[in-house]
Amino acid sequence: MCIEEKPHFYGRRQGRRLRKAKSVLMEKFLPKVKVDAEHPLAFPFKPQKIYLEIGFGDGDHLAGHSAKHTDIAYIGAEVFKNGIANLLSLITGVKQNDEISEDIKLLPSRNDNIRIWDDDIRLLFPLLPDACIDRVFLLFPDPWPKNRHASRRFINPQNLKILARILKPGGVLRVATDHVIYKTWTLRQLHESPDFRWTASCGKDWKYAPSDWEPTKYQNKAIREGRRPVFLDFERK
Ligand SMILES: C[S@@+](CC[C@H](N)C(=O)[O-])C[C@H]1O[C@@H](n2cnc3c(N)ncnc32)[C@H](O)[C@@H]1O
Repeated sequence: MCIEEKPHFYGRRQGRRLRKAKSVLMEKFLPKVKVDAEHPLAFPFKPQKIYLEIGFGDGDHLAGHSAKHTDIAYIGAEVFKNGIANLLSLITGVKQNDEISEDIKLLPSRNDNIRIWDDDIRLLFPLLPDACIDRVFLLFPDPWPKNRHASRRFINPQNLKILARILKPGGVLRVATDHVIYKTWTLRQLHESPDFRWTASCGKDWKYAPSDWEPTKYQNKAIREGRRPVFLDFERK
């Protein structure tokens, strides 16, 4: 029998201990918005499109984007518990010092269009059918800048093959980074991939945030520290 090995995850799974309200969100509300592993594309409405955000961090981009595009369904994947709890706080309006009841609901202004995969995205990939995703966001992925850690970078030939499989033809992989090594690495990996085409035709297409952009925590940190992010869109051929 072939037992598949669980991929090793090198990042942090938990930071500071969660305050009471966020723990309650994780325990009581997360189960309501978790991806159903048996029906990973199930949403309470028929979506026009499905977008996937990998490593959503604190969830600012995912919460903001999905609030503006209510007919699109979003799957967000994140391993870091404090980040997941933060996204839950953004979409319910529950703040960390709030006294909260058991009956937690989405903000009334929100459509129920996010499902959360609270684990390594690589464990969800095999459950997704071919050509089911319209867009993938990979925003400020861990750059693993040392050469000896290059194999840990999310952009690699194996993951690109999988992203090419799950993206629809014409779908888009959007990668943002503030790290010069990761930028060069990404462009090279995507250039060598037979499945993707970089859509930029001039500097303005990748030096500035796209029109439907929502700021992220790592983007803001990069700007504060004087680094200039780039925004790279690749089309699935
Ligand atoms: C540098 S942070 C960026 C967070 C966010 N996108 C932002 O721009 O603020 C990268 C995030 O990706 C998550 N991550 C890395 N590899 C992942 C994987 N295989 N599956 C799910 N999340 C992952 C990490 O836990 C981390 O929170």
